[in-house]
Amino acid sequence: MINNYFYKALSITSDTELKAFSKNSGIKLNKLKYYAEEMIYPHRGDLEKILAITGLSEIELQLKLGHMNSDLRNLLSLHSSQISEILKLVEENKTARSTDSIQPVFKTQFGQLFQNDCMALIESLPHESVDLVFADPPFNLNKEYESGINDKLSKREYLEWTERWVLGCIDLLKEGGSLFIWISPTWGTHIAETLNKHLTFKHWIAADIKYRLPIQNRLYPAHYALLYYTKGDKPNTFNGERLPLEICRHCGGDIRDYGGYKDKLNPLGINLSDIWYDLSPVRHSKYKTRTSNELPLKLLERVISLASNEGDTIFDPFGGSGTTFIVSEILKRKWIGSEIGPVNTIRDRFRDIEFHEKVIRDIQKNKNTLFTEEVRKIRIKNGKWLPETLKN
Ligand SMILES: C[S@@+](CC[C@H](N)C(=O)[O-])C[C@H]1O[C@@H](n2cnc3c(N)ncnc32)[C@H](O)[C@@H]1O
Repeated sequence: MINNYFYKALSITSDTELKAFSKNSGIKLNKLKYYAEEMIYPHRGDLEKILAITGLSEIELQLKLGHMNSDLRNLLSLHSSQISEILKLVEENKTARSTDSIQPVFKTQFGQLFQNDCMALIESLPHESVDLVFADPPFNLNKEYESGINDKLSKREYLEWTERWVLGCIDLLKEGGSLFIWISPTWGTHIAETLNKHLTFKHWIAADIKYRLPIQNRLYPAHYALLYYTKGDKPNTFNGERLPLEICRHCGGDIRDYGGYKDKLNPLGINLSDIWYDLSPVRHSKYKTRTSNELPLKLLERVISLASNEGDTIFDPFGGSGTTFIVSEILKRKWIGSEIGPVNTIRDRFRDIEFHEKVIRDIQKNKNTLFTEEVRKIRIKNGKWLPETLKN
């Protein structure tokens, strides 16, 4: 716990020293822990106490904490040659890319799965070789994974690890390629900071899925973030999707009032927005017992169809149960992926590819139309309008 940048900056090396610092500075112990664990820059009053007691200048503290504001960035830029001299940032000192060759444990017509740490795979693949990256990393929520990974890192450790694989994925992406990261909003704010420096922001997609119990003093967390970025200013592929109109599930009637605009609605459906309400976390009963964190097939069908074409290459560093891989295979995209833990669930899913093909066919049948076949029947039965009845 005490092995933390904040405590290091304050020369605190033990709990006893931490308590003493709290007493001498008049900053509450909990507040010091909050700054340290949440990586928050000390608020003004506390900052002054810290500078007084440590004798540090504010710039020195900022550098120790890696806290950059534009003043400091400008200063570093102004003195970059002297600073790089001090840091000896010469090319040969950089850690070389791993050249160890790693072998896939599983191959299909379109894909290759590696049972490795994703960093080993990322480092073994050629730069700028994939068209689409989809990543659904562990969220550091102290979950138990079959792989036994540590899902309770300190905030800084988690963010440093995250930055490494995110930068690795950015290197793998071709110019014009797209990157999607499925993440909790809290981590999303940090990851977006890294992505904004390298890629073009397209959307923060809010996927409406209740994922926790209500927590006191907080709004009910009801969405996951799907960060969507592209490399360069223009994506190579954007296959827009349209969704059916929302209707009452019982009578098939309109939920919204379209007034005189009904005939202006595109018969192919409503433009997909950046809020996705239609991703049910409920899995098919056949697979309800799976322990992995399987994402809905519909989510991957949508992302892959939106941002890639047949024959493109898709990379997913965090295989899990292989949702990205199975959808890529069905949609005839080449895929490359890693999973550090057991991969038997992925193998099992591929053995049952026909089941997944049927689900994907159903998903595709129900998009790009204003009313699905099922809904049309209910509406006809209940005398509701359809595009063709409006024109008559
Ligand atoms: C949230 S799950 C992914 C679920 C997946 N999207 C699906 O639909 O099945 C994250 C997965 O990443 C794996 N993982 C964690 N750290 C990894 C690493 N460094 N390299 C490769 N896989 C890793 C975990 O074992 C876990 O299976």
